[in-house]
Amino acid sequence: MLQRPRRNRKSAAIREMVEETTLTTKDFIFPLFLLEGTKKSVPVDSMPGINRLSLDNMLKEIEECLNLGVKVFDIFPVVDEKYKDKTGTASYDENFFYLKALTEIKKKFPEACIMTDVALDPYSVDGHDGIVDDNGVILNDETLDVLAQMAVAQAETGIDIIGPSDMMDGRVAEIREALDESGFTNTSIMSYTAKYASAFYGPFRDALDSAPKSGDKKTYQMNPANKREALIEAEQDELEGADMLMVKPAMTYLDVIHLIREKTELPVTAYNVSGEYAMIKAAAQKGWLDNDRVILETLLSIKRAGADAILTYFAKEAAQLLKK
Ligand code: PBG
Repeated sequence: MLQRPRRNRKSAAIREMVEETTLTTKDFIFPLFLLEGTKKSVPVDSMPGINRLSLDNMLKEIEECLNLGVKVFDIFPVVDEKYKDKTGTASYDENFFYLKALTEIKKKFPEACIMTDVALDPYSVDGHDGIVDDNGVILNDETLDVLAQMAVAQAETGIDIIGPSDMMDGRVAEIREALDESGFTNTSIMSYTAKYASAFYGPFRDALDSAPKSGDKKTYQMNPANKREALIEAEQDELEGADMLMVKPAMTYLDVIHLIREKTELPVTAYNVSGEYAMIKAAAQKGWLDNDRVILETLLSIKRAGADAILTYFAKEAAQLLKK
């Protein structure tokens, strides 16, 4: 036998020497859920270990994460029903608690990279990412204007990256133009490029109480059956000025991550979503899976598929595991 692949696996030192992919804490983006008020920490039942936090507690959490080497955070607001309307006007009201909190966070931790989410769903009485008309149709072009206003309002707080997660056509160009016109030429856009109409977002919608009141998101989020279509989205987002392209979810879409990585020179990110987190945590709690090893293997696999960075609720825990 001339080829004995096992020779390259015979010791930890050799295995490490020939390792093709290395997972590091620098790869992680940590999504956080912000609550209005103070001294609040409310667990998300379907995401063991994850809490919705008021600003004071979130500042502590960010500080702990920074000390572990996690430097990028994606912050989502939990919006009370009383602020919701048909067109998400709260999203660009400068007195809205989310925008004020973002300003505070950037003031306290200028070295942290803060990302925000642009879509109507947390602010909408309909729970959809776009404006819904009387017949239940999601209006594309009418929504773009709100998304642009929301993005500019978020940029004004000093945050670093805008994350359009709404999947309306043409929104990256609209947001880029609005940001530039308002002087925010330095604010980045990480576009949710290939975002699928997935059942894995369930726990996130529990956390934010943002599930659609009627219908589903299939007229704007992508059909899980499609791969080539992801390339159309990627090409559009790139032409429209996106700085980074995201695939979402991650574990069940590794082929799409790989494909987009091959086709673009831009950084590619993957969102290891709430349902993927819940699944692993539930099995680990039952003692059916080894929590620590499964987390690291999952994140490593997403990176091996081609992701340059990973949005993951495991960010803090994985950073602690990598430190060991
Ligand atoms: C909002 C948004 C969603 C997620 C991120 N931004 C939910 C959705 O589109 O329904 C899901 C994230 C997760 O499941 O972890 N548009």
